[in-house]
Amino acid sequence: MKVTVSLIKADVGSVAGHALVPEEIKKLAEESLINAMETEKIIDFRIFNAGDDLELLMTHRKGVDSQEIHGLAWEVFKKCADKAKEMKLYGAGQDLLKDAFSGNIRGLGPGIAEMEFTERKAEPLIVFMMDKTEPGAFNLPIFKIFADPFNTAGLVIDPSMHSGFVFEIWDILEHRRVFMRAPEELYSILALIGAKSRFVIKRVYPKGGKLPAEEPVAVISTEKLYQVAGEYVGKDDPVAIVRAQSGLPAVGEILEAFAFPHLVSGWMRGSHNGPIMPVPFRYSKCTRFDGPPRCISAGFQLCNGKLIGPVDMFDDPAFDYARQKANEIAEYMRRHGPFEPHRLSAEEMEYTTLPKVLDSLKGRFEQL
Ligand code: 13P
Ligand code: 13P
Ligand code: MG
Ligand code: MG
Repeated sequence: MKVTVSLIKADVGSVAGHALVPEEIKKLAEESLINAMETEKIIDFRIFNAGDDLELLMTHRKGVDSQEIHGLAWEVFKKCADKAKEMKLYGAGQDLLKDAFSGNIRGLGPGIAEMEFTERKAEPLIVFMMDKTEPGAFNLPIFKIFADPFNTAGLVIDPSMHSGFVFEIWDILEHRRVFMRAPEELYSILALIGAKSRFVIKRVYPKGGKLPAEEPVAVISTEKLYQVAGEYVGKDDPVAIVRAQSGLPAVGEILEAFAFPHLVSGWMRGSHNGPIMPVPFRYSKCTRFDGPPRCISAGFQLCNGKLIGPVDMFDDPAFDYARQKANEIAEYMRRHGPFEPHRLSAEEMEYTTLPKVLDSLKGRFEQL
């Protein structure tokens, strides 16, 4: 029987600037989703915060892009944003960019990662939630998980995944997509996804065999807020869902990709590059220079649509080294102050508040 896992998120307001979703707001979201579970709209749910982003993880039988499920998420975010306004939280309603819900939450501000698949005999599920970064931050780890034999031993030694995976890559500027096969097209895949602010991995598919080729095994949210709002309104802090084991990368192979704190954009005012730090839930609040960007991970087993978990996957001293490394890189990057490459490239800064500053200098320039 098929199950749908939907992870829908929005920044509805936070306490002490962009740091944290307060408990009152999470409680309010929980009440609404308990109600939705009792009326059998959804099978199960969990609520998280990744820093200042409110995350709704829901399981149900309604498929992806369900009006009912998207409507539910929209209602929850609206209610929480109203409460956030009442509490005078920072950025109350930040990610709710449009007023009218018309059947689908896409294009209204929130980020969405959802997939429908046949639940296996044992279905391990790993959820990732990032703050202070953008969808392209998932390119490197997702590539490593499903295509790099130095990360994922199973690509080499497990016959059920030896043939590799198919990547669905979106060009988020030109609004088009391409399906590419690994390992056959590894170098071409990298030629695209290395440009992570433009080309983002949207989904990964198996090549068939043990698992149906049309059912995704990983999905990433790719919404870009500035494209909805037409101006900078905060970063598009992304989420991802990855299925594990039995023809797929092992849980440990999935997590291994986060042992390297690679550079991502989105730190401070969405305008700086910094390392992504894998942290336990309790450290999911960005304070130093509103960062550095970070990622939490929740592990589950699915049982007929019910969620067994979460396990706080980065709450492991084995990730201390990645965190220490991230701190060293953060310190090094910070010493650059307003200089690139700490500050984003001029091209990427077009979507921030910098052009307004540059505008004021326009008349001062003399022709050479
Ligand atoms: P267990 O033997 O503990 O089930 O682990 C198998 C495995 O493949 C871990 O990566
Ligand atoms: P968020 O996108 O997490 O709201 O952060 C915005 C920001 O500008 C932090 O400095
Ligand atoms: Mg915010
Ligand atoms: Mg955020």
